Order: sequence, then structure tokens, then C-alpha cells
Amino acid sequence: MMNSLLKTASTPPIRSDKPWVRHWAKVAAHYDEKVRFVVGTATYDTLRQKLLAEGPLGDVLELGCGTGQYTRILAQTAAQVTATDLGEEMLAAARAKLAGQPNVSFERADAEAPPYADESFDTVFMANVIAALDAPKTLRACFRLLKPGGCLLIVNLTFKMPLLAYLVFGLRSLLAFGVPPRGRRDPLPHELAQWATDAGFRVETAELVGSGVKAVYVRARKAGG
Ligand SMILES: C[S@@+](CC[C@H](N)C(=O)[O-])C[C@H]1O[C@@H](n2cnc3c(N)ncnc32)[C@H](O)[C@@H]1O
Repeated sequence: MMNSLLKTASTPPIRSDKPWVRHWAKVAAHYDEKVRFVVGTATYDTLRQKLLAEGPLGDVLELGCGTGQYTRILAQTAAQVTATDLGEEMLAAARAKLAGQPNVSFERADAEAPPYADESFDTVFMANVIAALDAPKTLRACFRLLKPGGCLLIVNLTFKMPLLAYLVFGLRSLLAFGVPPRGRRDPLPHELAQWATDAGFRVETAELVGSGVKAVYVRARKAGG
């Protein structure tokens, strides 16, 4: 016990130089409550139902898992989830939340260049991270990592909403998370669908779901299997 405490104290988290990783690392300890304050729970509940309805997911790679909010859902229908993130603070929160979950492991990995062999996974999943990434590059990596017939699932909250809701959402985001790095633009369903198609996928659905703050939900498949 003392050993592990000492080890933790003398091993500082590995810092990423990526602005979005640093941004989220600052709020890792209270991320879940802050998300509920900014977004509410209705859309998350809708997304949970949709993900559970996907059926058995097999071996899953999750990119940008954050505190593991979605990891917990995926674990219910996956054989195994490899949940990855570049932020040590986020990974620490996720490890604590899912301690004892037998079919989940956590690894530090860059979503733009995941260090796994070709055709390793049945499903690749990512939530609320695509806007921080080079999306075409990441989707090409997802295609490479999936087995033939494998499934890509993308969830991303979107700013597409009526003006008043947008102002409330923006203000709450600022209060909860502070000023974000520049250069983020949340993709619309048709943009994500186009990138997925360009990467080689057959897009099965690309839709807006939820109420209030909505989310883009994309399911795309690699041919074969
Ligand atoms: C908005 S949070 C979303 C977390 C979680 N997926 C969710 O929806 O609750 C974005 C996460 O992506 C991670 N992230 C950002 N850029 C990344 C990258 N290049 N590789 C891996 N993770 C990244 C951040 O560290 C953060 O945990």
C-alpha cells in the first residue's frame, strides 16, 4: 500500500503537448458532474439506449475514453474493451470508476495513431473526441484496425441547436470547462459520413439524436466478414 502511494507520488503524469488533451486534463476530476451541468442527461440516456441496442460488440477499441462514461456502457455488450486516451488524468479517473470491471483494460494511446495491429478489433468507438482530431487520418486508422465486417461507432455532441439553447450551452461550457483551445468545429452528420466513406467505410446511419443538446450518431461498416 505504502509502496504504491510512494510510486504514485513520485511518478508525475505524462503530459501531452496536445492542447485538447491538456484542456480536458484540467477538469478530469469533476468531468462527469460538469458534463451533466452543461449537457443534462436526456441525450446521454438516448445514446446509452442506442449503444446497448447495437447488440454484441465483440472486441472493442475505444478512442478518447475520458473518464469512462461510455466505456461502462460498451462493457455491457462487448467481449473486451480496450479503452484509450492520451490524458493520464482522464485515464486515472476512468480506471478508478471501472476498477474491477473484468472485460475492460485502459491504455495510453493517441487516437490519431493507435498502436495496434491491422484487423485487431470488431468495433471501434469514439465519443466527443473527433473534433479534436485530424478526422480523416483517424478514420483511416480505424478502418485499418477493424476486422472485415467490423463496425465504427461515433458519437459527438453538436452545437447545432436553436440560438437560445446555443447561448445557454456556450455559457455553461465556459463556466464548467473554461476557454477551449482554438480550432474546434463539431462535425455534422453528413460531414462525418463523408469522412467515413472516404476512409473506405459503408455508412449505415448518420443522424442527429437526443433532445436539447443533440448528438451526431454514426454507424459505419468495413466490408467483408
Ligand atoms: C470531451 S472528452 C470526451 C471523453 C469521453 N469520450 C466522453 O465522451 O465522456 C475528450 C477526450 O479525448 C481525449 N483526447 C483528445 N485528443 C486525443 C488524442 N489525440 N488521442 C487520445 N485522446 C485524446 C482527451 O484527453 C479527453 O479525455
